[in-house]
Amino acid sequence: MRILSGIQPSGRLHIGNYFGAIRQYLKLQAEGHQCFYFIANYHALTSVWDKGELEKTTLHVATAHLALGIDPEKSVFFAQSDVPQVTELCWVLNCVCPVSLMEKGTSYKDKVAKGLAANMGLFDYPVLQVADIVIYDSNLVPVGADQKQHIEMTRDIAGRFNRTFGADVLVLPEAYIVPEVAVVPGIDGQKMSKSYENAIEIFQPPTATQKRCMQIVTDSTPLEAPKDPDKDNVFALLKLFASKEELDDIAAKYRAGGYGYGSAKKRLAELINEHFAAARDRYATLEKDPSYVLDVLREGGRKAREVAENTMHRVRAACGIVTSR
Ligand code: ADP
Ligand code: TRP
Repeated sequence: MRILSGIQPSGRLHIGNYFGAIRQYLKLQAEGHQCFYFIANYHALTSVWDKGELEKTTLHVATAHLALGIDPEKSVFFAQSDVPQVTELCWVLNCVCPVSLMEKGTSYKDKVAKGLAANMGLFDYPVLQVADIVIYDSNLVPVGADQKQHIEMTRDIAGRFNRTFGADVLVLPEAYIVPEVAVVPGIDGQKMSKSYENAIEIFQPPTATQKRCMQIVTDSTPLEAPKDPDKDNVFALLKLFASKEELDDIAAKYRAGGYGYGSAKKRLAELINEHFAAARDRYATLEKDPSYVLDVLREGGRKAREVAENTMHRVRAACGIVTSR
């Protein structure tokens, strides 16, 4: 089975990215599938317009994937920009994509509502994502729930291409979404996101994690009063890290009263720091060797381009685009 997924270098990786996406990348990699994972830097350009920032974050996100366990011997790991065929395919797909389909894009509407500039790149973002997916004949796309609509659009647009040009050129993929971790909440209870200032970063010193956990928004129930664990953000995050026994124990303490949110926050920070300790050590080592990380991307890009160029041969032939290559 061919697996494909990407993450934008639009900010530092957070625990929502890990549980919603990267943990599934690692599972599928361990199962021996053909995995293609990439850094979606052309997607990030829709919202990041600072050269230094985009370069720095691209290297951060790449280093973070390797530190978390993406293995370049097992997975093809690369930068989107190393496969120019993908922007070429985006154009072809634009020509069969109705404007009305993009107008239904919830991610576009959310981003504009949050104050991002409504540029054409942002509007066309889903079509570039469709190109990312179909260019590698991908079967399964591991993502968080916010990406569900983009995968539905992929099936729709790839199907339109196949019907328009009378051929089964493009493979229609399925989303792979794990319901329990599909939407990890941020410190404000909204979906955790790099762009909403509500994220808990993976790669930061333990003291910074602790400080961030202390900022998680809770209600104002006094310390002595009983609390409902199912209505609390700290508990929602504890569910990702604590063992079943510990979680049952903490839930009982919430309900009994006399257990404050501050204690829950402290425990959460400890668990996060333990969970990512080994990955943080690997990150510290890799960070000192950016040329190794760039070599990995270069080699991944070479492999990805080969597959992409094969697909583009089929695509160009199917729609009558003559090239001399
Ligand atoms: P962000 O929203 O932080 O910018 P991306 O859009 O780059 O993150 O998402 C990268 C991957 O992480 C996607 O598969 C996305 O669905 C997943 N993801 C991002 N935030 C969350 C979250 N809060 N919960 C679950 N999955 C998430
Ligand atoms: N839109 C995705 C996100 O914000 C990132 C992305 C770009 C992606 N291309 C992709 C995800 C292809 C999966 C497959 O999270």
